[in-house]
Order: sequence, then structure tokens, then C-alpha cells
Amino acid sequence: MIRVGIAGLGFMGKMHLRCYRDLPDVQVVAICDTDPAKFEDTAGTAGNIEGAAAPLDFTGVQLYDRFDKMLAESQLDALSITLPTYLHKDHTIQALQAGVHVLCEKPMAATVDEGQAMAAQARQSGKRLQIGHCIRFWPEYVKAKELIDSGRYGQVRAATFQRLSMTPTWSWENWILDADKSGGAALDLHIHDADFVQYVFGMADQVFSRAVRGPSGGDDHLVTQYLYGDDRVITAEGGWMMAPTFGFQMSFHIVLDKAAIVYDCTRQVAFRVCPADGEAYTPEILPGDGYSNEIAHFVRAVHGEAVPEIITPEQSVDSLRLVLAEKHSAATGQIVRI
Ligand SMILES: NC(=O)c1ccc[n+]([C@@H]2O[C@H](COP(=O)([O-])OP(=O)(O)OC[C@H]3O[C@@H](n4cnc5c(N)ncnc54)[C@H](O)[C@@H]3O)[C@@H](O)[C@H]2O)c1
Repeated sequence: MIRVGIAGLGFMGKMHLRCYRDLPDVQVVAICDTDPAKFEDTAGTAGNIEGAAAPLDFTGVQLYDRFDKMLAESQLDALSITLPTYLHKDHTIQALQAGVHVLCEKPMAATVDEGQAMAAQARQSGKRLQIGHCIRFWPEYVKAKELIDSGRYGQVRAATFQRLSMTPTWSWENWILDADKSGGAALDLHIHDADFVQYVFGMADQVFSRAVRGPSGGDDHLVTQYLYGDDRVITAEGGWMMAPTFGFQMSFHIVLDKAAIVYDCTRQVAFRVCPADGEAYTPEILPGDGYSNEIAHFVRAVHGEAVPEIITPEQSVDSLRLVLAEKHSAATGQIVRI
């Protein structure tokens, strides 16, 4: 039985709790949050993600208001860090130094230096550090990458990834709408697609971005072209300036020589492969969602199973590097070399 702790019982902390509880041989034994109201708000907040509002039960869980006390007392094997982004680095390093495996939410940190310090500590301590790039585990994205890698439909000629949300107003002390703390939608939201672009196509040589300043005071709607030194057109758009009635949408379309692969989470038939020859079809995909699959992956690794390396700390640093280059491009109006 693996003993797990959770630091930060906000929107994502509740999601991690739900996912761990769906798995065998793992028990959430401790949760830490500095805001006592979080242990009373058992209904939770839904944020912009379906399924995040399941009622909570703290039976058998030790509740803490101090992170260091939880680490010292709870004999944890593993820990989810679902704290605001600006707290990721110090808490991750502290946990790794204490000999605990860490699943830390994305974005890894605010700067490349911070991310590198986290990755270095993971190497030094020999403990696992997984960053919550859940899109690498999201069933439709997993299948799209599998189809691309198979070569069955030829080469990718163009691809666009979109992630659009109503403005997030539910975070603790509204930290998410302070770009100095969250990095704005570019770092907080769009990094999901930047990371997936890196995963599928490798690091771009250059990026060109335009961005709109929004309610966080930072880049809250951004469009990027990833340049690879060939004629592929790879684009991503992300932002949280949509009206509340819009909700949330993630989508992509990928144009290959012999097919288009399309996904839109808001459509009834969300995922389709449209071959040049033959009928469009929806392939079979993994069960679950990106959160449950990434957490199952983390738990399997902590159990000592030989899991494939789907997301390394170094790749997570690269995703940070990529988005920071995009922000620099938007700020300067220039193409930025990575
Ligand atoms: N993977 C995804 O799809 C996804 C979605 C949303 C958020 N996130 C990421 O998850 C992280 C958390 O975001 P959130 O939306 O859950 O934020 P949130 O504001 O809802 O939750 C943060 C929690 O941390 C607690 N907290 C603050 N300081 C603390 C401290 N020093 N010690 C212990 N607890 C403390 C707060 O009381 C709050 O409960 C962020 O990095 C965010 O970018 C990821």
C-alpha cells in the first residue's frame, strides 16, 4: 500500500484526491492546506473541469495546516503538489529531499532556473518527479500521437491546437488572476498545448507569438506558430478571456498527407479520423481521462513498475522554456529562437 499526501486542497487537489481513490493499493493518508475552510468545503468547486466537484470524505486522512509537519509525521511514499505555481519549486525540493516521490502540477515553475533546480534535485535524490502534463495522458491526444507516429496517414502538414476557457475566478486568494503568481493564461493554460506540441513534434527551432493582455495583467490570450525549418504549419491558441457562458473547450485538428484527425471536447462526436479514402471513423481510445491516467501512471512507477517515460522533468523544463520564449516573442514582436 502506497501512502500518499496532497499539498493544496483547491481545485486540482480535489481532482487528485478523487483519482487516487479510484486506484487500488494506494491510500491518501494526509492532506495539507493553510486555509481551514478547504476542509469544510466538502462539495468543492467545479472550476472549468467536469467531475471536479465530487463530495469529499476525510475519513482516515490526517489533515494538516503546515507542510513541513505533514512531511515530518506522515511517512509518505509519494506526494501530489497541487499548490499555486509560485510554491511548486520550494515544496517539491523539500519533499524530494525528504525521500518522497512527487507529482507536481503544471506549470512546473515560473522560470527555467527553478525548473532545472527541481529536475536536479530529483536526479540527486533518486526519487521520481512527474509534472502534471496531463494532456500527454489524455485519451484522444494519446491516440492522435499514436496515429501520427504510426506513419499510416503519411506526414503531418499542419496542426492547430486550441484551449479556451472562461476567466477562472475560483482560485484561492485569486492568485491565478495575478500574472506575477500564475504567469497568466500563457503559462497556466496554454502550456498544455505547448507541451503536447513538443511531445509530438520535438522542440521548435523558433516561435512567433501574439498575445492579448487580460484580467491577470499578463498574456491571457495567445497565438503561437512553432517554426521547424520546414513548411509544416503548427499553431496553438490558448486563453481564458472567454465569457462565463462559454465554459471550456479544448480541440485540435491535424492535417496529414492522407487524413485529418480532429477533436473538439464540446462536440457530441468529439474525436474523428477522416481519411482521404473511406469513411470517417472514431477509433477506440483509452478509458478514463488525462488526470486519472497520469495519476495511475505515477502510482505504477512509485510501486516500482517499469513504466514508459512519458514525461520527464527535463521535458517539463523544455515546455517552460518554450512558453517563456513565446511570451518573449509576444512582448517584442519578434521571432524568438529557442
Ligand atoms: N492539470 C490541469 O489541468 C490543471 C488545472 C487547474 C490547475 N492546475 C494547476 O494546479 C495548481 C493548483 O491550482 P488550483 O486551480 O488547484 O488552485 P487553487 O487556488 O484552487 O488551490 C490552491 C490551494 O492551495 C492552498 N494553499 C495555498 N498556500 C498554501 C501553502 N503554503 N500550504 C498549503 N496549502 C496552501 C490554498 O488554500 C488552496 O486550497 C496550479 O499550479 C495550477 O496551474 C492544473
